[in-house]
Amino acid sequence: MRNGWVSALVLLLAPLVADAQGWRHLGAADAVQRRPDGVELRSGPARVRVSAHAEGVFRVRMAPDGRFDGTPSWAVIQAPSPPQVRIEETPAAVRIAAGDVVATIERKPLRIVFADAAGRELLAGAPELPMAWMDAPHGPRVRAWMRMPADEHYYGLGDKAGPLDRRGRAFTMWNTDAYGWQGWSDPLYKSIPFFLALRAGRAYGLFFDNAHRSSFDFGKESEDCYAFGADGGELDYYFVAGPAPARVLERYTALTGRAPLPPLWALGFQQSRYSYHPEAKVREIAAQLRRRRIPGDALYLDIDYQDGYAPFTVDRKRFPGFEGLIADLRAQGLRTVLITDLHIKHAPGAGYAPFDSGLREDAFVKMPDGSLYVGPVWPGDAVFPDFTLGRVRDWWGGLYRDFAAMGAGGYWNDMNEPSVFRVPGNTMAPDAVHRLDDGTTRAHRAIHNVYGMLNARATYEGLLKLQPQQRPFVLTRAAYAGAQRYAATWTGDNSATWHHLAQSTPNLLSLGLSGYALAGDDVGGFIGSPPPELLTRWFQLGAFNPLFRNHAATDTRPHEAWVDGAEHEARRREAIELRYRLLPYLYTAMEEHARTGLPLMRPVFLHYPQAEAFYGNDRDFLFGADLFVAPVVDERLDPHPVTLPPGRWYEFGSSRRHVAAKEPLQLDPRPPGVPLYARAGAIVPLQPLVQHTGETPRGPLQLQVYLPAPGADDCRGALYQDDGESFDYRNGELLRIAYRCEVADGGVAVESRIEQRGYAPWWNRARLTLYGLARRPAQVRIDGRPLPGWRYDAQAGAVEAEVGEALRDWRLELSY
Ligand code: GLC
Repeated sequence: MRNGWVSALVLLLAPLVADAQGWRHLGAADAVQRRPDGVELRSGPARVRVSAHAEGVFRVRMAPDGRFDGTPSWAVIQAPSPPQVRIEETPAAVRIAAGDVVATIERKPLRIVFADAAGRELLAGAPELPMAWMDAPHGPRVRAWMRMPADEHYYGLGDKAGPLDRRGRAFTMWNTDAYGWQGWSDPLYKSIPFFLALRAGRAYGLFFDNAHRSSFDFGKESEDCYAFGADGGELDYYFVAGPAPARVLERYTALTGRAPLPPLWALGFQQSRYSYHPEAKVREIAAQLRRRRIPGDALYLDIDYQDGYAPFTVDRKRFPGFEGLIADLRAQGLRTVLITDLHIKHAPGAGYAPFDSGLREDAFVKMPDGSLYVGPVWPGDAVFPDFTLGRVRDWWGGLYRDFAAMGAGGYWNDMNEPSVFRVPGNTMAPDAVHRLDDGTTRAHRAIHNVYGMLNARATYEGLLKLQPQQRPFVLTRAAYAGAQRYAATWTGDNSATWHHLAQSTPNLLSLGLSGYALAGDDVGGFIGSPPPELLTRWFQLGAFNPLFRNHAATDTRPHEAWVDGAEHEARRREAIELRYRLLPYLYTAMEEHARTGLPLMRPVFLHYPQAEAFYGNDRDFLFGADLFVAPVVDERLDPHPVTLPPGRWYEFGSSRRHVAAKEPLQLDPRPPGVPLYARAGAIVPLQPLVQHTGETPRGPLQLQVYLPAPGADDCRGALYQDDGESFDYRNGELLRIAYRCEVADGGVAVESRIEQRGYAPWWNRARLTLYGLARRPAQVRIDGRPLPGWRYDAQAGAVEAEVGEALRDWRLELSY
């Protein structure tokens, strides 16, 4: 043990003397200054600010040279709105209490510990080396170390490869075109420096808001602390309190934003390939979808529709009737999604409007010597819009005018890491110069990780201006925290292997836990040719992904649903049909996401934080709150074991009920479809099958009621509907209904309560199926009067009943 004066000396010298690796550790706090929302402390040359940002959210900043960066965050959109802050100082520490969180800042060394109001420690800086910096050629690197309890698990960081729980591994954040990535590849396309820590049912979140190359180490280097840091910029992080994991997500998405409600069609099935051309091929794919009655809402045109791969052009030889094609597809209920990559072909004097106008507007990124930054991508030499400037984002948005006028449905912003071919690092030169609206500049290395997100933002905001009545649909490959406000995303160039199918779920769950709900992967795998059974399983899993898109690379065999004969086609169609029948449930969950930040695909621990058996389950997930999906993602011939979440669960669409037990269910090795379960107590809204979301369903709304145990108080469901296209819902043109049910010994009651009725849906009648009835009821009544026409199916253990005027408050009662 050190004696007193030695440790005092160490602390005094800490910031001045670098350790063996070159880190200068923060020493003792020399001075404390109070601020309205917290405190600022001085320690040697560095300054540290600890402030309450919002209810349950604290912000910590460390500036090694004592100067805080004034540039606003690209990610954070929530203005500070702290609850009342109480500050107490003692000789050893400063205590800041705000809401349910207490930040204690120990003075020697300066170390921060977050605890809840009951004094339970949540997040604590590592003793003796909580924060440090290191001199480097482009400004200091920064890093923080935190205590890592042995039983804490870490989730998030966007769609990193490998298992969902990040513990024991280290990761880099540097947006990368990771063509052919595998389970061990890192970094990938996105940088979302947010994670959720979960320990014995209690969670907190940490968001490190720094767009430089950054890294996270969850115990690779050390067993008892984790670390994060960046190659430049400030140490600037947010502590997000729970304790429920769902609360952490709600708070994190309040901080960085949530996906706005997408157009309904974007939740339908989407068909893509690199590339469908010429025009006749696109028409043939559309015709196949319709003829074979495979529901679908979108067709993608990849880079080959363009003239010489120059964005915003059309190859008129391949697509002589481009406008007519878009219109004809639309008439069949198919939206055309156009790829519009950000690399503008470098074509001086060639009459290429995006280059000419961009040059006129001084829109492109330059090198320090003032020359244009030029790098090769699909069109050959290309230039890159300087998306950090508002006026450049406006100019970019304007490039969509013609396509928007033609009625294109959505846009795909690919290659926006940015990907640059045949250069070291495969991206823009690190010292290329970005200009900011405040007149300052930043080197690319400081902007790199937000560049793709700003591309998506420019597209989204541009479309809003061009078509203010229409919800934009943008698909982006690169992202930073906050990109969910502008675009859907997918996991890039995966491969047609079982391993990649299994990787799909942890990737998408992780994106959802990182605030990115509207995500999917290339169904079938992008690289390579999936064997038939793999492709079928991928369709079955994709049907439960928020974004459901089949896509494939140029030199692969066809990936469409019908390419492997009638039996596979039938199973794939069935998966897509189930998706369409579930659209009311799915859309309701999407609207919930837009309000609360809860994703559609949820790890079981999001709703059952105590269920530690699921902390490491990478295969199964909740789809919304009430459906549990246990997909087949491997080739094994062993039984398919399914461990159900806590409580009782029904096999979907039946009265077969299971109680979550310690022993998993052992299903038939090859269940032909997706093992799917509904929570006892769920009320799930469905619709009659349609071929696309623009088709009006024929028939009543369907409500599946999975009856809970007598006396349970968690029987509920919800329905949200609107026109699916416009922003009229913001003016109250929406329908919101809450359903609940009660089971008592003498009978069952189901209730509908209209919460908001500003939109007239396609249905007026509702057909209810109540599962889990062992006996025939003696009577079924609606609002106290006998209900005609109901029937009991003894074999199914279910009652079917139809409510004629269902668009109102009603109460259905079954009695014995
Ligand atoms: C990239 C994309 C892929 C696309 C291809 C051609 O590899 O990730 O989805 O098909 O570029 O545009």
